Amino acid sequence: MNGIETAWGGVIIAIGNQKGGVGKTTTAVHLARGLALRGHRTLLIDLDPSAGATIHLGVCPDEYHGVFELLTGEAELEDCILDHTEVPRLAENLSMMPASRRLETIDRRLGEANRFGHPADVLVSPTARLRDRFDIIVLDTPPSTTLSTSLSAYKVADYFILATLAEPFAMSGLCVAARDIDAVRQHGNANLRLLGICVGSVPARTLLAGWILREIDQAFPGPGLPEQPTTLRFVPSIRRSTVVARVQRMGLTLFDRLPGHPVTEDFMALVEAVEHRIAAAQRGLDEHEAYPASLDAVSPGGHHEPAA
Ligand SMILES: Nc1ncnc2c1ncn2[C@@H]1O[C@H](COP(=O)(O)OP(=O)(O)O)[C@@H](O)[C@H]1O
Ligand SMILES: [Mg+2]
Repeated sequence: MNGIETAWGGVIIAIGNQKGGVGKTTTAVHLARGLALRGHRTLLIDLDPSAGATIHLGVCPDEYHGVFELLTGEAELEDCILDHTEVPRLAENLSMMPASRRLETIDRRLGEANRFGHPADVLVSPTARLRDRFDIIVLDTPPSTTLSTSLSAYKVADYFILATLAEPFAMSGLCVAARDIDAVRQHGNANLRLLGICVGSVPARTLLAGWILREIDQAFPGPGLPEQPTTLRFVPSIRRSTVVARVQRMGLTLFDRLPGHPVTEDFMALVEAVEHRIAAAQRGLDEHEAYPASLDAVSPGGHHEPAA
């Protein structure tokens, strides 16, 4: 299985950032599709009411049961998971649980239905049942840390990938997000680890982007182990290209539509790095924490403008 130990059950990776438009969905979809391509039984769960991941995979959000129907008890777990037998355009090894606009009302609905349950726990039972069936479960999260779907992703994930852009305020957003992960480790999910930072849509040859990437590398060093990367950033970053929006509009991934394109290769490098980091983190579970969410190196307020 390409180095990922899954004997103890499937691993759950959440893709997040409290900001919208930073590449979470594009990263989640390509990570899931790439892992499926490499033979892992993969499930992508779309937790965002805007249903970006669902649409990106060419699935119509209102046509199927999904996360909303599962969490409100309107449908059984089985009936909320799609694969190529229901949706022929879904690739081999790739299943998905779609989102829909109905998720916008999930907090109110859960509050009415289950006044004593904690909203952050809504995914605990379904994902526990799904771990046996999938090698990897990828969660695409909404740009919020207050929706129950977002909170619950932090609660059940083993690994967190922060998605960001190489833009001036990236560092402050990353610091907030990384502190959230630290807080979750202390108060809800001690197993959660920051697996890495995926910087998306990086313009070629701009000084500002280069400077921001170096700043991220300094603030988020790697585990400092032999043969492990020296930064938590996934290298290479994902380059900016108009083909991304083009394939998204077709309801396809780059792997399916443009397999040889340089951006597709960036995403494949991400997939391989994720495999290696999970393998390293799992090897390290006994001896040391290969990818702790330690923020010792992150300076408070971490954002500084480059010298003019
Ligand atoms: N590598 C890239 N090159 C160009 N555009 C990109 C790239 N990655 C993402 N985008 C575009 O950026 C926008 C936001 O991406 P998305 O993945 O939906 O972010 P989020 O899920 O964080 O809101 C989309 O319009 C998408 O097409
Ligand atoms: Mg999104």
